[in-house]
Amino acid sequence: MNAATDTAARALFAELTAHEPTGLWSAPGRVNLIGEHTDYNDGFVFPFAIDFRTVVAAGTRDDGRIRVVSTFDQVPVEVALDDLDALFPARRDEIVEWARYPLGVAWALRAAARDAGVDASASLTGIDLAFSSDVPVGAGLSSSAAIEGATAAALNDIWGLGLDRVALAQAGRRAENEAVGAPTGIMDQMAALLGESDAGIFLDCRSLEADVVELGFAPAALELLVMDTRVTHAHSTGGYGERRAACERGAAIMGVPALRDLSVDDLPRAQELMDDVTFRRVRHVVTEDQRVLDAVRTLRAEGPRAIGSLLDASHASMRDDFEISVPELDLAVDTARAAGAVGARMTGGGFGGAAIALVDRGLVPAVTTAVEEAFAEAGFTAPHIFTVHPSDGARRDA
Ligand code: GLA
Repeated sequence: MNAATDTAARALFAELTAHEPTGLWSAPGRVNLIGEHTDYNDGFVFPFAIDFRTVVAAGTRDDGRIRVVSTFDQVPVEVALDDLDALFPARRDEIVEWARYPLGVAWALRAAARDAGVDASASLTGIDLAFSSDVPVGAGLSSSAAIEGATAAALNDIWGLGLDRVALAQAGRRAENEAVGAPTGIMDQMAALLGESDAGIFLDCRSLEADVVELGFAPAALELLVMDTRVTHAHSTGGYGERRAACERGAAIMGVPALRDLSVDDLPRAQELMDDVTFRRVRHVVTEDQRVLDAVRTLRAEGPRAIGSLLDASHASMRDDFEISVPELDLAVDTARAAGAVGARMTGGGFGGAAIALVDRGLVPAVTTAVEEAFAEAGFTAPHIFTVHPSDGARRDA
């Protein structure tokens, strides 16, 4: 637990309400080890929750309203719970963007409660939520899923909904898709809800079956380095949606429900049937699914050091076939590898954000310096480089 984030959330809550919160809940950001843009294709991903978290101090109120405030935007946003259905998705633009995440989760959870037969407007009390976070924003570490996960965990407990972790992740994804308007998959929310220390979540995004796989970085004397390029990205605009549309086009041409249903053996036929760009989008997803399966198998059999070449191949596929890298990400990956990293790739949705490198503990300073120097030489904004450790998913902290 990060004491500073905790204290900040408590202080903000006290400022807002002049009383003590019912409790504190938190959820982590995530790093995706491998499996990019496979989640919304019903495929495989292998992320882990990181030791950077969003904390929410939460307390009830008796007027049926919900109010959210955060340390990054001190202006509280308040609406009646019964108005959420009219706001989302149709009038979401009336809500400042960050607040759509927690309010969207409240909206999605009320709908889930209704589906489970709970009379939402009668029994779900009003609530105040004060957020503080140390998850870097815009770095591709899913600060948004951290907000969603913390909100979902808090409301599930306070409202006594009894929903399981997968249902909470689904509410988070619904908030992101419909209340925020980013057409993302389920990976980030599942990582934020299901994470465990020292482990990755091997997730089948079709069945939502999740295997907790020990990563073994520490015993192998490896560190996972995050290299935040400081190039910011947003998945509610542009490239992400276009990639998703290309995948759907490719699946339709091949006559399958999702690209998950293709294997590398289908690629020659795909190449004959579609234009070059669509084919390369399809090839990325199909080979990336295979790389996730290979990475999990290799990790289990040989340990983390053996997955380096799969990380490298994943990056090449995103750079050349899916075309979601940027020069800063390529430079970070190439430089880390040249300085001795076991493997490196961009992580997350792309078009900016962070790259990761699996690095021998003793080489962390050298790799860090090499990447910083390469960025300076290229005239890029100085990167933000730090290690992360596989950590717990959403939980009640106090
Ligand atoms: C973002 C989305 C995820 C996933 C990744 C790409 O992080 O939120 O659902 O699609 O991009 O793998």
